Amino acid sequence: MCGIVGYVGDKEAAPILVAGLCNLQYRGYDSAGVALCSADGVRTLKCVGSPENLIPKLASCAVCSALCGVGTTRWATHGKPDVVNAHPHSCGRFHVVHNGIIENEKALKEEYFPNTEFLSQTDTEVIARLLQKFCENNTSICEAIQRLVGVLRGSYALGIVDGERPDVLYAVKNKSPLLIGCGEGFNMLGSDTVAMISHTDKFYEICDREYAVITADDFKIYSSNGKEVRREAFVVACDISDCTKGDYAHFMLKEIEEQPRVIRQILSCYCDETGKVNIDNEIIGKLTHSDRIYIIASGTSYNAGLVGKYYFEKICSKPVDVCMAGEFAYNMPPISQSPVFIFVSQSGETADCISVLSKIKELGFASVAITNCEVSTIFREADHTLLIHAGREIAVASTKSYTAQVAVFALLASALNEKYSKLIAKDLSLAADAMEKACSRKEEYREVAHEYLLNQQSCFYIGRGIDYYACLEAALKLKEIAYIHTGGYAASELKHGSIALIEQGTPVFALSTQKITSLHMLSNIEEVKARGGKVLCISSCQSDDEDCLSIECAAELLSPLVSVIPAQYFAYYAALERGCDIDRPRNLAKAVTVE
Ligand code: M6R
Repeated sequence: MCGIVGYVGDKEAAPILVAGLCNLQYRGYDSAGVALCSADGVRTLKCVGSPENLIPKLASCAVCSALCGVGTTRWATHGKPDVVNAHPHSCGRFHVVHNGIIENEKALKEEYFPNTEFLSQTDTEVIARLLQKFCENNTSICEAIQRLVGVLRGSYALGIVDGERPDVLYAVKNKSPLLIGCGEGFNMLGSDTVAMISHTDKFYEICDREYAVITADDFKIYSSNGKEVRREAFVVACDISDCTKGDYAHFMLKEIEEQPRVIRQILSCYCDETGKVNIDNEIIGKLTHSDRIYIIASGTSYNAGLVGKYYFEKICSKPVDVCMAGEFAYNMPPISQSPVFIFVSQSGETADCISVLSKIKELGFASVAITNCEVSTIFREADHTLLIHAGREIAVASTKSYTAQVAVFALLASALNEKYSKLIAKDLSLAADAMEKACSRKEEYREVAHEYLLNQQSCFYIGRGIDYYACLEAALKLKEIAYIHTGGYAASELKHGSIALIEQGTPVFALSTQKITSLHMLSNIEEVKARGGKVLCISSCQSDDEDCLSIECAAELLSPLVSVIPAQYFAYYAALERGCDIDRPRNLAKAVTVE
């Protein structure tokens, strides 16, 4: 998984590439590299860690004035993240950066290079070698690329430079996103608009199995058989404040505190002045007539999907299955007669979701995407889309996209039941106020994080019903940014096994926002305390107990919007105290573009 950027134009390519790569770090940040082309040849520079680490190397590099080049920031799939495995990979004339996974890498090596020792452990080096091979006997690079597309299996977005044409970028793509960005006197290439947005707002998409030849003042896109393809441009306006931290120490903190505003934004997009929910009638019609809803998602989006299930079941009595995208793709259960599939994905690029989407499309089932990104594969491929309007989320740990997804689910389920359709806008607006109040108590949360989580190796979140679903998200946050092994458990299940893990001082956060389960929660809390657990109850009931943190939840159904906020802060402050890289936690990437 990587982020790719390319530039050819009238300015020095290196600083533009490095800045673009820095903006793409959400796609990976374990190593980076660039290939810079000038009349004197191609020079590749690589580093471990963030693309920023390229800057000192560039300062002492003679080809810094090159006007053309490609680069990547990498999340290792094949081979550890070191300089040898970092991209670009080179062979002869060609230097290649790659996002994706070549599934038949081994077979290609056996067929074309049986006696060759490869330098790296990557699945990318074979691409550079194939290009060099296919260009033997004066074959043109375009013919070589066509042949390459014919033999490669898997997902790839490729940026290629050729030492014999230092003023041209080549791009090839299958199943991994790749865009061309156009401006006066230059053209660019990028995995995402954000890599190019400081230079242009005009983009062209490269589709699967197409390739492009890009110069400073022109570009052409071709199908895999070499036929030129016409493509319409699209314009993306970017709110630059979305891409900067402002006065915040971390994007995560900024994004936590944006949540009340995001909920109000969602309300203004989906409700009219009377508070009535306005959602595309076709979506409502399909959901109304469906016999079952399948929610497909991963990670935080999966956790939001569980809350969505609760809403559909409680608000409109619709049966729902929530499925982990990566599991569902290759383990599909028998599907009901008239299903609707809802894909939840902040990035719209999660490969596990895309794989299910293409399978269910082949089967002819209806699909709705709930996403944050208009320029994304899932947005494009689904029959219908509902944007979550969260604004760009940059921290790897999802915060505002979770609450935005939950709010969109609440609106969608309410739109299917007239009784709720009139109430939901008011309830969401009150929830936004309650979220704001919760955010204003961050100093308390910092103290809790210090008292409960300092030096802890493991932690529990327990809850029942919708609180249990919120616990799963709360636990994920603590795992991914503070590296504390945390379980989200149904409080009722604890005594069936996991309570064995509770020891003297084990931190246990108990979410209790539902009247129907509040008494049972009290018993579960006592059970944990009796075994030495150090419990903090996060409850919607007012209490002066020192081990209770009261939160305000306007409507019980919407409680995850509020109860998740202290949990997000606990994770943030615990990570801060431990010196973790909060916005870029180890081993992770924001968009998981490989299966
Ligand atoms: O972009 P998506 O919502 O499809 O991403 C799915 C997960 O990778 C993502 O939610 C991940 O779990 C979060 N970054 C966790 O905070």
